[in-house]
Amino acid sequence: MIKNICCIGAGYVGGPTMAVIAAKCPNIKVTVVDLNQKRIADWNDQNIDNIPVYEPGLGEIVLESRNKNLFFSTNVDEAIDEADLIFISVNTPTKTYGSGKGMAADLKYIELCARQIARVAKNDKIVVEKSTLPVRTAEAIKSILDNTGNGVQFQILSNPEFLAEGTAVTDLLNPDRVLIGGENSVEGQKAIQKLVDVYANWVERDKILTTNVWSSELSKLTANAFLAQRVSSINAISELCEKTGANVNEVAKAIGMDSRIGPKFLKASVGFGGSCFQKDILNLVYIAKSFGLNEVADYWEQVIIMNDHQKRRFSRNIVKTLYNTVADKKITFLGWAFKKDTNDTRESAAIYVADDLINEQARIAVYDPKVESNQIQTDLNYLESRSASENEKATKCFDNPYDACKDAHAIAILTEWDEFKTYDWQKIYDNMLKPAFVFDGRNLLDASKIKEIGFIYQSIGS
Ligand code: NAD
Ligand code: UGA
Repeated sequence: MIKNICCIGAGYVGGPTMAVIAAKCPNIKVTVVDLNQKRIADWNDQNIDNIPVYEPGLGEIVLESRNKNLFFSTNVDEAIDEADLIFISVNTPTKTYGSGKGMAADLKYIELCARQIARVAKNDKIVVEKSTLPVRTAEAIKSILDNTGNGVQFQILSNPEFLAEGTAVTDLLNPDRVLIGGENSVEGQKAIQKLVDVYANWVERDKILTTNVWSSELSKLTANAFLAQRVSSINAISELCEKTGANVNEVAKAIGMDSRIGPKFLKASVGFGGSCFQKDILNLVYIAKSFGLNEVADYWEQVIIMNDHQKRRFSRNIVKTLYNTVADKKITFLGWAFKKDTNDTRESAAIYVADDLINEQARIAVYDPKVESNQIQTDLNYLESRSASENEKATKCFDNPYDACKDAHAIAILTEWDEFKTYDWQKIYDNMLKPAFVFDGRNLLDASKIKEIGFIYQSIGS
């Protein structure tokens, strides 16, 4: 039986996942470790509002177990040494250098973890891939562990995470399925069973799926590719709707009622963001290409091409509608996070739309309920389109939406935060320059009410 779990990586996956395991398995000691001292200090902050990941319900669940059987620490060696089972939950970003640059997953953090585990481990351990990894990564991990370790036995499992940000806690408490891949040997099956027993503390047994390692690794990339493909598919149709007088919300409803298609993930938008969809599809494309499967690679790459087009189309439309110039005009962004109910901004469409508009010399005002101004600067600086001081000059952050919208030429809705629907839109209108425009990148507002106030309102796909 597993008594002691270590999780390397205290990010958006490691933190919430381990908090739920600790809450559901009071007899297991769970230690989440990270090299990032500030992140660990924030997870240990007495004020629960300061934990580094914002997720509805997460604060409560962390408080339930923190410093009882859930610990956050920077002492990676100690946690590895104590653990029977180690989750690797570090970041696996797209490579920014060398071969596979811009496509392949950068596995340097994974390899560092494997080497550290090999160096420290003095007894047999189960090592679990929680990070999203290219198919057959377990082979590399096993080779490092077996060839650099202290002669102890390692079993490698793949247990990808399917939580979505903004709903992480409910997804973890009630997963559609838990996927565990392992070796088809006696030792492999024993290791699988031990991890099954951990999840069985709260997940129904028939939702815990066991497969071979390669199926598990590839299923994770495939799931994200299918989800992103739905968004790109409906976004492609949204452009056609705009030309033909069809309404994409009506089309989505009509097709979604076909039980074979289903209603979820059919919301047209300014484009999907988040740290994973693009990265995982690029990775899939890279793997397909590396096997010479060019048609397979091209098929999936089109999902990304469509998404880039959708973001660009949104910014170009703003410029065109504002009489072909936004120079020195104030455009207010409502929302910067890549979706509602998270403070995560990685790959958010807002970043790319802002970048395009700043190129056109617009002044960008931003209000997001959970994103702070230094994050917005970091995101823009990361693109390296211009100097940090130029980005700072072109953007201004507000902690109140009404101030953010005052004297604006236009509002762009980039994130579907529920609170945007409840604003006093008449008051916002009264304080804007006229004509006052709203570009709704999330089809969030009630079009007829907004138009009645006097706004010129444009949504996606109608
Ligand atoms: P993250 O960047 O939020 O967290 C990763 C953490 O790992 C960072 O805090 C980093 O400091 C730490 N780290 C890196 N190398 C380390 C090392 N050698 N030792 C100790 N700590 C180290 O990333 P994330 O969003 O939690 O994603 C982690 C993985 O999970 C990725 O592979 C991602 O694709 C996958 N995933 C993410 C989500 C999501 O919603 N974010 C969902 C499912 C799967
Ligand atoms: C996604 C998957 O949903 C998770 O199952 C997976 O674990 C995770 O990626 C991951 O591997 O990181 P996440 O990116 O957190 O989760 O959030 P989603 O709800 O999938 O949204 C992704 C993006 O698509 C957001 O920008 C969202 O606004 C957009 N989206 C989603 C749409 O534009 N329309 C939709 O109908 C649905």
